[in-house]
Amino acid sequence: MAVRDIEPVVLELDRLEQLAESGYYNPYTLFDWPDAIEPDKPWMSESLTSLAGTPMWDELTREQQLALTKYEAINFFSLNIHGIRELMSEVVLRIHERAYANVSEFLHHFIGEENEHMWFFAQFCLRYGGKLYPALPTVRAASADHLSPVAREMIVFARILIFEEIVDHYNAYMATDQSLPDIAREINRVHHQDESRHVAFGRMIFVNLLGQVAKRDPAEVPVVAEYIEDYLQYSIGTLYNPATYRDSGIPDAVALRRRAMEHPARAEAHDRVLKRTRKFLHKAGVGRELIK
Ligand SMILES: [Fe+2]
Ligand SMILES: [Fe+2]
Repeated sequence: MAVRDIEPVVLELDRLEQLAESGYYNPYTLFDWPDAIEPDKPWMSESLTSLAGTPMWDELTREQQLALTKYEAINFFSLNIHGIRELMSEVVLRIHERAYANVSEFLHHFIGEENEHMWFFAQFCLRYGGKLYPALPTVRAASADHLSPVAREMIVFARILIFEEIVDHYNAYMATDQSLPDIAREINRVHHQDESRHVAFGRMIFVNLLGQVAKRDPAEVPVVAEYIEDYLQYSIGTLYNPATYRDSGIPDAVALRRRAMEHPARAEAHDRVLKRTRKFLHKAGVGRELIK
């Protein structure tokens, strides 16, 4: 592929590269995989499930609540797998492009780490859930075809950043949740550690490429801002998967998804998930007004 119309991306990444080297670990020997997960423990923090805070959660039997934590954990890890596959393939295509020569070293760490993340997320899903949820073909994120080449480059890294920041909100919380089985907590903790570097890098490259967009055509900035807002909403929507409701024995899965997503308690939950990212985007000049 040819990356057109972009200036070399030069970033100060020495510290992040050193941290990647000093924190390097072997994922294939790191985890202690139990044969089975304790039946009475939630697989995902209850306060992070898609029905948390709504009467729909209270109406479930305890059995359904636990089932939902299980299937939403599988959905969350499946989303990670699909997200990683998408972002890795974009980064692989760029790793030896001239414009990215200065960040190529960090991108090698990034790809290596993401490959390992994909492995441990899939291990968890397949060992304990017996499956991955497929990526939802009906809810595709908007196309970026109408944007200039440099804005499309920016969008590639914006999508990676947004995906990683949203996931990290969940990982950071579950990394210390003592109600979870050890293996679930550990996976979240280890992922959170690596992602702190990825998010730091993601923000730097985003600011660089956004600066290039603004320099070429300031009028395109609000257009990319709109795309980014759509992508935030799309990403939140992927956390509500009707298949998880069905698998948990909850009826009317599609209607439930709609009701849950529209519930005021969920709007507050979405604000919490996106708070850090919105603050960053606002400061960078592409965010809507911040929620007080
Ligand atoms: Fe990752
Ligand atoms: Fe990452």
